[in-house]
Amino acid sequence: MEAWKDYQEQNKDRFLEELFALLRIPSVSADSKYKQDVARCADAVKDALLKAGADTAEIVPTAGHPIVYAEKISDPSKPTVLVYGHYDVQPPDPLNLWTSGPFEPVIKDGKIYARGACDDKGQMFMHVKALEVMSKTGELPCNIKFMIEGEEEVGSSNLGKFLEDHADRLKADIVLVSDTSMISMEHPSIESGLRGLAYMEVEVTGPNRDLHSGVYGGAVQNPINALCKMIASLHDENNHITIPGFYEKVKELTEAERNAINSAPFDQQEYNEELGIGKEWGEKGFSNLERTGTRPTLDCNGIWGGYIGEGAKTVLPGKAFAKISMRLVPNQVSAEISDLFTKHFESLAEPGVQVKVTAHHGGEPVVTPIDSVAYKAAEKAIQTTFGKDPIPTRGGGSIPIIALFESILGLKTVLLGFGLDNDNIHSPNEKYDVANYEKGIATIPYFHKYFAEMQG
Ligand code: BES
Ligand code: MN
Ligand code: MN
Repeated sequence: MEAWKDYQEQNKDRFLEELFALLRIPSVSADSKYKQDVARCADAVKDALLKAGADTAEIVPTAGHPIVYAEKISDPSKPTVLVYGHYDVQPPDPLNLWTSGPFEPVIKDGKIYARGACDDKGQMFMHVKALEVMSKTGELPCNIKFMIEGEEEVGSSNLGKFLEDHADRLKADIVLVSDTSMISMEHPSIESGLRGLAYMEVEVTGPNRDLHSGVYGGAVQNPINALCKMIASLHDENNHITIPGFYEKVKELTEAERNAINSAPFDQQEYNEELGIGKEWGEKGFSNLERTGTRPTLDCNGIWGGYIGEGAKTVLPGKAFAKISMRLVPNQVSAEISDLFTKHFESLAEPGVQVKVTAHHGGEPVVTPIDSVAYKAAEKAIQTTFGKDPIPTRGGGSIPIIALFESILGLKTVLLGFGLDNDNIHSPNEKYDVANYEKGIATIPYFHKYFAEMQG
């Protein structure tokens, strides 16, 4: 295993340069003006996989952005690990808040700054480099299949079909994903769950045109006022969500599970200071770690309407809009929650406005086992490179495809993430510590080794 370490040490500068080349490609999946860049990024990932030692790698076109699929099959009798990741990134705006260009990666204070540095190019690329380390120094402990997609940040809507169409080719023993966070380098942890998602857009229509707010104001319902009142009513005084039936399928945790979650190191004051909030907020009766990891939520992601240009314009607008998302936990079902939201929100329509609700993408919540062979292999790999057992935690984010690995392919997942919660993913100045990138590359080969040994 010294060979792995030596190889990584000798090549660590190149491993960073190669990641930088990927980070320079603005593979923003949400914005069609980047379509060519997304395609170029897929090509770069494919080339990188071949160079790292994959036997085959190909670009699989979809109705949206392409999937990169690669394999290294050294011995069919060995276990097979299916590595999933994504090469697409979130839009970089607001650009003026970045201290360096989002697609001009730089290292400052040991951290790589760029869109995608952590989510997920940096973390995905650790697996490409781990493949190189293993394949250039000897035999691979496991067969590896790579499925790297370009639509995670827009809901993975074409990937389910790929799983169905290629179920045979994707046969594996476990899915391995690095697209989540750990508590810190001092407290390594493994997420054992992800929340689901239901994402809605609402349109509130008042008068048939924008009106003078003096001539008509006071006599005509204002759609922005109405929308704000409707949104405000979605939480009660205990910050519970008021949609009827919303909590019906929520599986309550046992006292032991709650205690386990709350035993992870967490400092509320530090958290508040880091975020610049005077006081925490959340559902009554739950701790911060429970609120983000185990409870469903509802948040307004954007709200607009009326005049938002410079200066003041006295207008009573004809329309108001909002994007509203709900994070879901077992056993809530995304489509059911979308329906409950739609019915309830329509019923909230204030007099004098009409309400239209549309659903965007969604995804189901998952809990991954922490008593499986694969989890134990991940635990031992972390123990080997960090010198500490990882703490199991519940993650607040969503990766919609994970639930489909189980329902379509019958595969469980291990979330071997090396990000930190303050890596600013989806925000300006996204970063990824060089140390985390390198620890990830060092840890992944041990996962393969221990998984092969334990799986037998
Ligand atoms: N990698 C994140 C999810 C994540 C981040 C999980 C941190 C755990 C910890 C992923 O790329 C993501 O951002 N997912 C989206 C959902 C998607 C449908 C747009 C999310 O969680 O908002
Ligand atoms: Mn991600
Ligand atoms: Mn993301």
